[in-house]
Amino acid sequence: MTFQISRRLMLTGAVGASLAGAAAKAAPKAEEAAFPPEVLAHEHALLGPDDGVALLARNENPYGPSESALKMVDYAGKKGAYYPGQANLILAEMIAERHGVDPKQIAITTGSGEALSAIAVLYGRQGPIVAPRLFWDTTALYAKRLGLAEISRVPLTDDMGVDLAGIEAAVTEETGLVQLCNPNNPTGLVSDSKTFKAAVKRMAKKTTVLVDEAYMELADDPDGNTCLDLVKKGHNVIVSRTFSKIYGMAGLRVGYIISSEETAEKVRGAAMSWIAGTGLASAIGAYNDETFLEYSKSKIVEAREMILAKTKELGMVALPSQTNFVYFKSGKPANDLQEALAAKNVIIRGQYMDYADWSRVSMGKIEDVERFCALLPEAASA
Ligand SMILES: Cc1ncc(COP(=O)(O)O)c(C=O)c1O
Repeated sequence: MTFQISRRLMLTGAVGASLAGAAAKAAPKAEEAAFPPEVLAHEHALLGPDDGVALLARNENPYGPSESALKMVDYAGKKGAYYPGQANLILAEMIAERHGVDPKQIAITTGSGEALSAIAVLYGRQGPIVAPRLFWDTTALYAKRLGLAEISRVPLTDDMGVDLAGIEAAVTEETGLVQLCNPNNPTGLVSDSKTFKAAVKRMAKKTTVLVDEAYMELADDPDGNTCLDLVKKGHNVIVSRTFSKIYGMAGLRVGYIISSEETAEKVRGAAMSWIAGTGLASAIGAYNDETFLEYSKSKIVEAREMILAKTKELGMVALPSQTNFVYFKSGKPANDLQEALAAKNVIIRGQYMDYADWSRVSMGKIEDVERFCALLPEAASA
């Protein structure tokens, strides 16, 4: 039997619930004492996974948020009566300072997803969005659902890489946008820096190129691989980043793009909401917390090495990820492996498109990754 987890279930957090129904809700903890009775009576956790569930499906980072972020959440909560004020500007100035750009070149949004959706709508209207066959397509699909974009997918190379030559060949005068994700999701692969940037530069002469760098801080050489230098040199390139991954703040919903001033203004104008003060304040608190960022990356790399070692030991093919997830072939259909693990309260991603043999597991707490590694041999063979 196979099944798919809907994006809605993933986003509402009900995935742990739907798949891991066996996880009984534990007695309320001290932090839950003030919860309304409806929450306490509900069979699932209000936020995050239920007790006993290893949630390794959504590329979250349970090592966040940092203390520096949490202090600011507390402050922002107390100021919750007010619309956010100066926080957006201050965060933009901090980001601009680090990257040597003007704050006007930045658009901060409710997760990078909001900026990416705005971009898909703005540019998708002008012509097809050209992208690799596998990429984080949620926001391009959003524009497609609204009838505002078509996606033109270019097959991956034989080794699951982004076929830059193929994508370049698919770009025409009609193309609305080229969307690339580097490192890519779900493969976790980083493209060769020189080839990637050269291709992006050439394509940016014909159309706008969006490079989604949600996982770039987790790559081995973020500075060498980022396309921010192309933005700074004035190429028609947009780079997006997020606080959801290395910062471990997916639930606080802050992301941003860096582009030309004109593009950033357009994206700010197309954003559909105002970012919560808790998100902005916590992003300001965490942004320059180098100690936390190093710690966060080290835990993710530790977990990644455990999974790569386990898959290797089991003779499985696993792509050399530079992100907080690993794409691998267990020998069992992805949806069946997902189901077998869910029966043990370990939740991983199911099948992407028609890539039936490939599974994606996200890094989580080390003990959850240990559980995954311990269960994998039996789950993959059963
Ligand atoms: C490649 C990529 N980009 C963007 C996002 C959106 O993240 P957020 O809206 O939390 O910034 C995700 C989420 O998983 C992602 O994988």
